[in-house]
Amino acid sequence: MSTGDPLVVFTPSGKRGRFAVGTPLLTAARSLGVDIDSVCGGRAMCGRCQVLVAEGEFAKHGVQSSAASLSGVSEAERKYGARVGLSAGRRLSCQARVEADVVVDVPPSSQVHRQVVRKAA
Ligand code: FES
Repeated sequence: MSTGDPLVVFTPSGKRGRFAVGTPLLTAARSLGVDIDSVCGGRAMCGRCQVLVAEGEFAKHGVQSSAASLSGVSEAERKYGARVGLSAGRRLSCQARVEADVVVDVPPSSQVHRQVVRKAA
């Protein structure tokens, strides 16, 4: 990992790190301890690893982020989108690879440890 590698910032956690071009987002998240679910082991089957690519200039992070900061949609991801559907801006983090500085939002539905409603005793 060199300082010339792209900067990846995850929200809402704010965890960030530099990763070599071609690193899958899910791998980057794991290495930073960012909570992203993955049930299918990164095979573009479960859709639990969905993230939202932020668009725009993030002065706070010094990052210009857009869909072009990530690799193009993979064949497996395209199939998932055709089968189940992926909302605009959403990517499967096991498929999307880092190409440039990027800000990535992890929605609550993709977090393993999302808040659990406890039943009354
Ligand atoms: S980990 Fe299952 S679709 Fe990405």
